[in-house]
Amino acid sequence: MSEQAIGVFDSGLGGLTAVKELIKVLPQENIIYFGDTARVPYGSRSEETIKKYAEQDAGFLLSKNVKMIIAACGTVSSVATELKDNLPVPFTGVVVPTATAAVNATRNGKIGIIGTSATVKSCSYKKEILRLNDRITVFQQDCPLFVNFVENGFISEDDPLVQLLVERYLSKMKREGIDTLILGCTHFPIIAKAISDYLGSSVRLIDSGKETALYAANILGNEGILNRSGKFGNRSYYVSDTVESFMHTAEIFLRKIVSDEVTHINIEQVAVS
Ligand code: DGL
Repeated sequence: MSEQAIGVFDSGLGGLTAVKELIKVLPQENIIYFGDTARVPYGSRSEETIKKYAEQDAGFLLSKNVKMIIAACGTVSSVATELKDNLPVPFTGVVVPTATAAVNATRNGKIGIIGTSATVKSCSYKKEILRLNDRITVFQQDCPLFVNFVENGFISEDDPLVQLLVERYLSKMKREGIDTLILGCTHFPIIAKAISDYLGSSVRLIDSGKETALYAANILGNEGILNRSGKFGNRSYYVSDTVESFMHTAEIFLRKIVSDEVTHINIEQVAVS
């Protein structure tokens, strides 16, 4: 089983920020990634739709015989919380690992959370933080336009438009004096520098992709299914929209040109149980 791939999915290509971290932490693991590029964004959709899409995404990865599934999507992890109950393999979303890291990082007990509208509405990160430590004060802000900015390549910390949007979304949290900020959406690490420049270096940014990669490594270790082949792992990418659009956007998230195999699939054909 240990040589089977880890399955990672996201509403689109933002989950590649988690794949990048996973490759750093577990370079020997084979990874199968599915990005639902034909149906992104999930963050502005209804709970019912997000749950159905998440089931299809996980169903597709199971058909590839993966040994673990990671929902590298803040929105899915926040809304489709029952997904893990129906899976025959270990699973993690991004909420638990990221909230845990934030609780460990804060010194003044003031944590900010940013995510899509669906994520913030679900209060998923907030609930998990308060479950871990109910003396922490939590501030939430949905930042839906960050997703569009990143997808369209507006990511430079020197871009006045990016700076303006960062200020618009984060000025309240900055005034409240947070010392830790959860980047609760897979797209946000791409503009981490702009966010950090605005909030100042004393505010710690918690990257959901990085924390989830470390958490997944622990699960695989505990289950005794780490790949110990000693070889560098293979990566295969699947998308529901065109392969060409993947090639363009994937570079933004992985910070390199993808030379691995990329395949188009029809996700609507995956049956929901
Ligand atoms: N992947 C989503 C998330 O992490 C962002 C994009 C979307 O809205 O689907 O929340």
